[in-house]
Amino acid sequence: MLSARGFVLWFTGLPGSGKTTLAEIVAKVIRERGMPVEILDGDEIRTNLSKGLGFSREDRDSNIRRIGYVARLLARNGVCAITAAISPYRETRDEIRRSVYAEGRADFVEVYLECSLTALIERDVKGLYRKALAGEIKNFTGISDPYEPPVSPEAAIRTDTEKPGASAARIVTLLESLRLIPASSESDHESRRTREVAALVQDISRTQAGG
Ligand code: ADX
Repeated sequence: MLSARGFVLWFTGLPGSGKTTLAEIVAKVIRERGMPVEILDGDEIRTNLSKGLGFSREDRDSNIRRIGYVARLLARNGVCAITAAISPYRETRDEIRRSVYAEGRADFVEVYLECSLTALIERDVKGLYRKALAGEIKNFTGISDPYEPPVSPEAAIRTDTEKPGASAARIVTLLESLRLIPASSESDHESRRTREVAALVQDISRTQAGG
């Protein structure tokens, strides 16, 4: 039996590694299976909850703690809270993991999106790597600011060699195996999941440029 337990699905990775894209795809799959979902996206949070914060370590940590706090409130009420922020500092991510488990009412699943700098610079969806390399943006994560990869995330996914649909399907499988989301009711789970994700990827690529 699946519990009505919520969880935090915490994406972390360099800018442009696919956090927003994967958060959107996975959120749709989970929502269609009847579980409430909310996405806390770094770019969006910085226009409201974290408005005014910059990119110093202190400001990034404040941003991440706010995101972690809201995610924890949601998750303890049975929601799947998906976060999509760089969250560059290991200790700050681990602090949030601990705070979620301390309450004992939700789980924390960290997913590291790994992508080579070469691929990120080549892709450069927002044109920020070009600016950072030209020195026009200071303290840019991956170029002139640190990123600390997780030591033992629940999943590590290479987004430079795998398509978003395949990565999303693997995350969905992981959440099913952890019994955090209901499995698909069809007997052929794998093919249903592949079709489900393929349809959503099409939907999303129509409405979203990247991220
Ligand atoms: S975090 O470090 O505090 O987790 P967050 O995910 O909220 O970062 O915001 C990152 C987004 O801010 C990037 O996707 C990018 O669009 C924008 N950005 C602007 N300046 C920087 C910078 N110096 N480093 C990283 N991202 C930046």
